[in-house]
Amino acid sequence: MSVGSNPPKSVAEFITAESSKNLLRFIICDNVDDGKSTLIDRLFFDAEIDFSLLPVALNTERDQGITLDATYRYFSTDTRKFIVADTPDHQQYTRTMVPAASTADLAILLVDGRTGILNQTRRHAYLLSVMAIKHIVLVIEKIDLTDYSAEVFEAIDRDFKSFAEPLGFTTIKSIPTSALKGDKLIETSDKMEWYKGPALLPYLEKVEIASDGFNSFRFPVQSVKRVGSEIPGFSGTIRGGSVCLGDEVMVTSSLKKSRVADIVTIDGNLTRANTGDAVTLVLENEIDISRGDMLASPGDLPHSSDQFQARLIWMHDEALLIGRSYQLKIGTQISNVQITDIRHVINVNSLEHLAARVVETNEIATCNFSTSKPVFFDAYNDNRATGSFILIDRLTKATVGAGMIDFSLRRADNLSWQSFDTDASARASMKGQVPKILWFVGLSASGKSTIVDIIDRKLIARGVHTYILDGDNVRHGLNRDLGFTDADRVENIRRVAEVARLMADAGLVVLASFISPFIRERKLAREIAGDLDFHEVFVDTPLEICEARDPKGLYAKARSGDLANFTGISSPFEAPDDPDLCLPGADKSAEELADMVIEKFKL
Ligand code: ADX
Repeated sequence: MSVGSNPPKSVAEFITAESSKNLLRFIICDNVDDGKSTLIDRLFFDAEIDFSLLPVALNTERDQGITLDATYRYFSTDTRKFIVADTPDHQQYTRTMVPAASTADLAILLVDGRTGILNQTRRHAYLLSVMAIKHIVLVIEKIDLTDYSAEVFEAIDRDFKSFAEPLGFTTIKSIPTSALKGDKLIETSDKMEWYKGPALLPYLEKVEIASDGFNSFRFPVQSVKRVGSEIPGFSGTIRGGSVCLGDEVMVTSSLKKSRVADIVTIDGNLTRANTGDAVTLVLENEIDISRGDMLASPGDLPHSSDQFQARLIWMHDEALLIGRSYQLKIGTQISNVQITDIRHVINVNSLEHLAARVVETNEIATCNFSTSKPVFFDAYNDNRATGSFILIDRLTKATVGAGMIDFSLRRADNLSWQSFDTDASARASMKGQVPKILWFVGLSASGKSTIVDIIDRKLIARGVHTYILDGDNVRHGLNRDLGFTDADRVENIRRVAEVARLMADAGLVVLASFISPFIRERKLAREIAGDLDFHEVFVDTPLEICEARDPKGLYAKARSGDLANFTGISSPFEAPDDPDLCLPGADKSAEELADMVIEKFKL
């Protein structure tokens, strides 16, 4: 048992080496202090696998749905090859566990025989089921410290199986072990006569993993390459089914068809390529394809939708908020996305569905998603690569969540844009004006409403068609269901930004006056405005001055604790870094500030 004298340099090389041996990818989830490393060390030591030769590689499968990094160790025995995903970080276990589990066939759940199933075991098991792992080995460790008790083993086995019943695993195999004593890792020991099953390694060598049965051809295009002649080739990794020379393929976005003229790889040309192969496909005729497109077989296309339901694993320390815009990366496709509904958060101990307005770190939720353009995908349970995605914070670029798509929401397929003959410019020219959105940002009592009121009066006097959207007023009607939590403020701004766009589209000069405390939603408001003229005006009045003014007595209430989540006191305000205009709210009169706006934007 060894990895040979020339250890493979990468996961890909290892997978193609010794092709007669079938490959098992697994992950070890640890609930025992240091249990995992003792187990791995002992397993390799006893099986005489030269540990020093085991290369550790970074996951470079960049174009896969879930693209966080995980490290892998690989080794082979006489009958099988193995890849073990390393999930070292206890604090951020989802960050490492999710990418590792997304390619694993089997998971070893380690429990301590003395403590049995813990919340952490249940949490891991639930996460594994969400990641569509079908095979579980429950390793009941430190069994020597229970006097090799059959009762302890059986009780833990029963306890786990009753919890895991609804999770849909195909096999659950419990094995009693002692890594310290070397019991039941490689060979059956004489210690536990009552246990008739195989030891851990022999079990891993034999366990049968059914193929996922997904045969539809899926080729997310990673890059466009010129191959020799002028004809472009499309590079990527096959994520479903296979493709042969001469096969008809279709571009999912344009529905254009062509045939495969060449399948090029670094090791020469092929007549057929399969799932997992990295290839460049040359097509018979030149059609427009770019990174992010997908090739599939005509008649067997992935879903296309801008709305879907998915299970989401939230990994960020800041909660996920309904309505906030994130970047979605699904294979090679990138889109902006919003969570439109949190259907429920799962209590991983009881598997209960809980209602929620936010999703906190490490929670798993079922949510509805709405993308800014149609994306192409399969259900995660059909294809883990084309059915999974990650969410990225648009400001910091941090990966904040990983998702597994359940299904497309039909309503998206049944809606389309109705185009009308009269457009925004026609409406605006009837009014003889250029529509605009002026977005006033600032603390409560900074002077926004007063300034907006003066501008509005002056413009109306000159015959300009305007409309004021104001926080206090909108919250009496359209947004009467929203309060002042972070989540509600995000949704407040999202709705108001949509209304502002509609009004500007109708030809009006819109004066929007909201605290709008978050950078991300102000950015969103600008995006929603699209091609329309949008300007951010920061009414920059220091907190002390706003508090001294306190026209509605709200600061006093917030200070005395009678009003929760008050901006500037107990709720954050992210001041604009680079507004289109900054008004010194404490230094000039409202009249002067209004004139500055009129002049700056030539109103
Ligand atoms: S925003 O944060 O979501 O943009 P918005 O501008 O709509 O707020 O509403 C702010 C107004 O609501 C304030 O001017 C104030 O009159 C009132 N208000 C009531 N409670 C709060 C609170 N907790 N924080 C801020 N403003 C509040």
